[in-house]
Amino acid sequence: MAGSSHLMVWLGILLFQYVPLGLEAHHKWPVGGSTRFYDFKVQTKRITKVCKTRDIVTINGMYPGPVVYAQEDDRVIVRVTNETPYNATIHWHGVRQRLTCWSDGPAYLTQCPIQAGQTFTYEFTLVQQKGTLFWHAHISWLRGTVHGAFVIYPKTGVPYPFPDPYEEHVLVLGDYWFKDLQKLEKRVLASGGGAPAPDVYTINGHPGPLYNCSKNDVFKMDVIPGKTYLLRIINAALNIEFFFSIANHKLTIVEADGEYTKPFTVEQLMITPGQTINVLVEANQPIAKYNMAIGPYMSALFVPFQNISAVAHFQYSGASLTSMALPAPLPVFNDSLPVKNSMDGLRSLQATNLPLEIDTDLFITIGLNVEQCNSLTPNKSCQGPNGGVFAASMNNVTFVRPKISLLQAYYDRLHGHYTDDFPEVPLKSYDFVNGAPNNIPNNTQSLNGTRARVLEYGARVQLILQDTGIVSTENHPIHLHGYSFYVVGYGTGNFDPMTAEINLIDPPYMNTIGVPVGGWAAIRFIADNPGVWFMHCHLEIHTSWGLATAFIVKNGEGPLETLSHPPADLPRC
Ligand code: C2O
Repeated sequence: MAGSSHLMVWLGILLFQYVPLGLEAHHKWPVGGSTRFYDFKVQTKRITKVCKTRDIVTINGMYPGPVVYAQEDDRVIVRVTNETPYNATIHWHGVRQRLTCWSDGPAYLTQCPIQAGQTFTYEFTLVQQKGTLFWHAHISWLRGTVHGAFVIYPKTGVPYPFPDPYEEHVLVLGDYWFKDLQKLEKRVLASGGGAPAPDVYTINGHPGPLYNCSKNDVFKMDVIPGKTYLLRIINAALNIEFFFSIANHKLTIVEADGEYTKPFTVEQLMITPGQTINVLVEANQPIAKYNMAIGPYMSALFVPFQNISAVAHFQYSGASLTSMALPAPLPVFNDSLPVKNSMDGLRSLQATNLPLEIDTDLFITIGLNVEQCNSLTPNKSCQGPNGGVFAASMNNVTFVRPKISLLQAYYDRLHGHYTDDFPEVPLKSYDFVNGAPNNIPNNTQSLNGTRARVLEYGARVQLILQDTGIVSTENHPIHLHGYSFYVVGYGTGNFDPMTAEINLIDPPYMNTIGVPVGGWAAIRFIADNPGVWFMHCHLEIHTSWGLATAFIVKNGEGPLETLSHPPADLPRC
């Protein structure tokens, strides 16, 4: 996947433009957007990375997958056909899905899986959305290889709020595994223990020269001295938060999670799984070859990780192709200072619709648990700390996926699939960062359940997300479906309303927030999009362990305040 100049991008849009018939039912949004049609085939593909060959699941045989291009207010139609034996779904990460919750994609939350041989067509409108987002599979660990960029341009004639870059490039960051991901997930869950480290990091699918056999498996970007480049950086990794830097070049952040920010310049940035960050880079250094590098930010103790950086090249035209590239410095893996620094600089260009008053105020603890292991084969299945089993929770409730989709259960009023009693505060209060809810060292038992929280239409909601140290404190990237939210505050330690600094002037508007290690974050949004919306940690192993919950947002009264009917081809369980 090479970087594309503006010309290529627009050609792409023209080629993919397609006007389907029978769209009357969707003429709800009074905008003149076009329709973009994409055909996604879920296919296995044999690839070789780092001298190891294996079959991975892809879209249309590509790793990373195809870029979806669109413009603000466009309607997007993606027909997904599953040609693999595995169950699949696709999630449009960051797309707010106004009234189209059925097309959101998380398996057993808004739909049943698209089974082998089946087709499902996702349809949604990018209502007042532009910028860099991405799409990924949302079932099991499939998204490890099934992901790609989603680039939404402003409406025709609307400029960026910064000087037009000379060229734009997408950088999809990933973690790659030599093992089959679905089997790996099953094996990890059955063991009760932690997940192994990924084998390789990749930039646009390429590990770069620091890995075995990968001298020529490098992503390269050619630049012209004096020009400015826009990089659309996406962390599509399953389980790794990344530092990113370019040797001798500064990064000016201008957008985060598909929303413009006040320009802010850093040497390095940290990007969590689920986040997207646009930066401007000026090619203002002597003609040479420079590295772009990613390495792990690992804030938890005792978690194994790969420490070899993935490297790509930022090469000036005129530089000798055989010359050595200048190394890009990265922070030490557990250095939280650069994380705080780049967070401190994230400010909305304009904070419209920021709720100043709150109707619904929830306090939610997040973190891992260790459950007592009752297995008859403890050597096999009790590999968590102290012979226990790893779990994870929000407010000490471990989320259990229902057997049918939560949205369908809610919409059809089917009983027995979930309860609506997700607690609004933790059931027990304790020193969250330094303590544990129970006094038994090898049992920090959580409750299991499919517990959702119901929100009234239009409620102005605040969530305080509080990290816990039950197993180890850790930076958790919490992602909310169906909304962006204002990050009005964050800090270290236990949240204290008396001392917490809250920014109601220009907080960033995001869809994924890295809650600081051993700290908290406060987010706000208006619950004006009816449906069932998953909220979870975007470290996939944590979602597997149950670090999740769901919001059910009721319909409003007006014509544009009601969830649509389910599509006819919605997969059955
Ligand atoms: Cu990108 Cu539910 O996630």
